[in-house]
Order: sequence, then structure tokens, then C-alpha cells
Amino acid sequence: MLPKIGRNDPCWCGSGKKYKTCHEPFDAKIKKYKMMGAHVPDHSIIKTPEQIEMIKKSCKVNVQVLDTLDKEVCEGMELSKIDDIVNEVTYAAGAIPAPLNYEGYPYSVCTSVNDQVCHGYPHKGVYLKNGDIVNCDCSTILNGYFSDSSRMYCIGDVGEEKKRLVDTTKEAIYAGLEKVQPWGFLGDVSQAVHDYCYDRGYTVVREIGGHGVGLEFHEDPWCGYFSKAGTDMLLVPGMMFTIEPMVNMGKEKIFTNKENGWEVYTADHMPSAQWEIMVLVTEDGHEVLSW
Ligand code: MF3
Ligand code: CO
Repeated sequence: MLPKIGRNDPCWCGSGKKYKTCHEPFDAKIKKYKMMGAHVPDHSIIKTPEQIEMIKKSCKVNVQVLDTLDKEVCEGMELSKIDDIVNEVTYAAGAIPAPLNYEGYPYSVCTSVNDQVCHGYPHKGVYLKNGDIVNCDCSTILNGYFSDSSRMYCIGDVGEEKKRLVDTTKEAIYAGLEKVQPWGFLGDVSQAVHDYCYDRGYTVVREIGGHGVGLEFHEDPWCGYFSKAGTDMLLVPGMMFTIEPMVNMGKEKIFTNKENGWEVYTADHMPSAQWEIMVLVTEDGHEVLSW
């Protein structure tokens, strides 16, 4: 719900200006969409310029962690070493790894190898081997502000089929990103990602998707890949969310490791790839915040 604000009251965005000369026309535009039946965002997920600045600082650390992994992740590396690196770089920057203790998750990073779809544990005693593909998913809290992105790593000589899966997943994010614009819809992004993958013979995981992020780890809206263009939430400047499709070489179906309740695998044990990007809707398009 959009709260009632007097026209001469200070604007909710923190600019210090009167509402009528700041965000009143913006809110009126959102209201118009709402009256037309659109699902519209409320103010709690529209970030102010000050919040965006703080979140960008968190993203900087998030990118620094992933850039370090770019240099370090290699054949023979123990998965627990990736957790060590994430901890080291994150704490040195004065930040906290967001996954650690999040709903009981016991590590600081997710490392998902081959048929692992997401939330893989960085196990001790498990080593990356030639031909593996691994997603390293890093999320960071700096001064209470959240950032979240992930990258794929190809270990040694990865076969053409797996390489194509990894590349296509990244390209699908670009296809979705092209649709991130103010007064568009989240469904535009969803369909672009979906179609890019299915046109190339892959499937996308249904149950797990992207999310709003910034003030919390996971905020509204939920960003799946099975909605049609023109549906789902209206996109307005100041919204931010992740695009993070899990793309399968085989069937869509997944299952969760019952022993720990976290690690997700493809049901057919075919490989799965994921990249995750964090994007801000701006006045004239979008800005990639973290990747
Ligand atoms: N990027 C993942 C997400 O958006 C990170 C999961 S961390 C975990 O959910 F702690 F939930 F595993
Ligand atoms: Co995420």
C-alpha cells in the first residue's frame, strides 16, 4: 500500500523536498498502473538515493570476493578452501558473509558442482576435478546492506556440452537484463530468460528464483522464469533485484538432500548452471550493481 503523505510534507525518499515537488507525480503514475490492475511495488522496496549508495558499497565488496575467486578457484582445490577465501576477503573488508547462519545455513558461500543446482556446501574433503563446473554464490552484508551475486567456474578441460550450458546461462541473463527498464514488467525479464534457455534446448528450475535485495537478503518481488511478458510486478526506478536462473541440461525436476535440507540436485543428475546478477532499475534503464 502507498501511504498517505501530505503534499507539503517531506518526501518519503529522503530528499528533504516537499512531496508535491518530489515523488508525488511518480506515486500518481504507479497508482494509475494499479488501477489498471497491475501488481505494483510499495515504497518499502523502492530504494532512496542514500540507500542505493550504501548498497553499492556492499556490492563492491561482493564483487571483490568474486574477483578473488576468479584468480584462485582451480583444479584440485578443496571446496572448504573457497569458504576460507570468502571469509578472509569479506571480513578484511569489514563485511559479513550473508549466508552464514542464514536460516541455519552453516557456511559463508554456496558451491554447487555439476548436477548440484544450488546451495551446495563447501565440503571438507571434496576437491574440484578436471571437467567440473562449479557455481560460487556469494552474498555480502556491509553496514547492514545486502549484495548477492554468483559466477560459474569451468575447471580444467570442460567438455563442449557443459561449456555451452555455462555460456548459455550467462547469455540468458543478458537477455533478461535487456528487459529491465522503468515501467516495464518483471514478466518481461522472466520470459526473456525462459525463452533464451528453452530455445537452446535447456530447461529452467521452477521452484527457485531471484528476489528483491538490498535492505534485506531476500525481499519482494520473487523473480521466477515462468511468467509471461507484461505480467508480474511493475518495474519502477529504485527497485533492485537479482536475476539468477538455474539452467539444466536435462529435465527441470530437482530434489533436495534430505539430510541437510539445503543442497539441491537435478533429479536426472544432468549438469546445471547458474549465474546471478544484481540489478537496479534506473530512470532510463538499469544499472548492474554486482556480478
Ligand atoms: N544467492 C542465493 C540466494 O539468493 C544465496 C543463498 S545463501 C543461503 O538465495 F544461505 F541461503 F544458502
Ligand atoms: Co540470490
